[in-house]
Amino acid sequence: MKPRITVVGSVNMDLVFRTPRMPAVGETMHGHEFRQIPGGKGANQAVAAARQGADVAFVGAVGNDGFGAFSRNCLANEGIELSHLAIVDGVATGVAGILVDDAGNNSIVLAAGANATVSTMQIEAASASIAAASLLLCQLETPLESVVRAIEIARQHGVQVVLNPAPAQDLSNALLNQVNYLIVNETEAAQLSGVAVTDQGSAETASQKLLQRGVGTVLLTMGEHGVLITESSGSQYIPAVKVKVVDTTAAGDTFVGAFAVGIANGLSVFNASCEAQFAAALTVTQLGAQTSIPHRADVLEFMSASKAA
Ligand code: RIB
Repeated sequence: MKPRITVVGSVNMDLVFRTPRMPAVGETMHGHEFRQIPGGKGANQAVAAARQGADVAFVGAVGNDGFGAFSRNCLANEGIELSHLAIVDGVATGVAGILVDDAGNNSIVLAAGANATVSTMQIEAASASIAAASLLLCQLETPLESVVRAIEIARQHGVQVVLNPAPAQDLSNALLNQVNYLIVNETEAAQLSGVAVTDQGSAETASQKLLQRGVGTVLLTMGEHGVLITESSGSQYIPAVKVKVVDTTAAGDTFVGAFAVGIANGLSVFNASCEAQFAAALTVTQLGAQTSIPHRADVLEFMSASKAA
């Protein structure tokens, strides 16, 4: 049986400029190319989970416009259940302006648009979808009160919660206490723990602080520096999988989606994280968000090729 995952989150159209380097303030420069690619942390994580073999339902909003219709179609083509993806009149679909330099680094600016309209009422309407899931997946590109309500509903029904608190913002202990798995990068970990993450030692200190704030398990993703898993029993470190970096966009989203599927399938946190690392590594070898998220077969092939090497 496929695990069922409900995602509450954002949908964006990514307007991607590939550029030799990041422009300086006040500078105009020529880039290499422009691409329009479906994205949004919520939608990317939903696609990652679907491509790893889960039955995925999505709760979110797009505008009644071309970007919205295109994004919706992309999600539908992945087999994602969209009865709670609202189409909102008079508001634009979310947009992300993304610069990707030759080293694969990115800078992103968001215009939330319809993502900002996801309300607690919409979450209430989707409560059966949340309650029926084995796992709820949320990020912070939709209003915090709707994320809080979704997590409450999940916990009332015994549904496990994965929170990726991106973009970073302050969160209460009451909320963190309801989170089974918190997946943070260095910036998010620092904001929520008050500890600057600069190396493995500070990563462990920050993760311990997050456990003290009520989180069940902390996964601190550090890109090329690997992932640190911290639970009450202690920390485990998983090194990164080495690949040629083209674009890191959506690597974190792929990790989150793949990890969620692993957990929903009954894998240990360590094994789910290892598989998610391989999925995320494949993502950085391609340009864009949903264009770069691998399918299950590609991840399995990559894992066995890496073990054989
Ligand atoms: O995590 C990558 C995503 O962040 C992009 O797809 C962009 O839409 C922003 O939400």
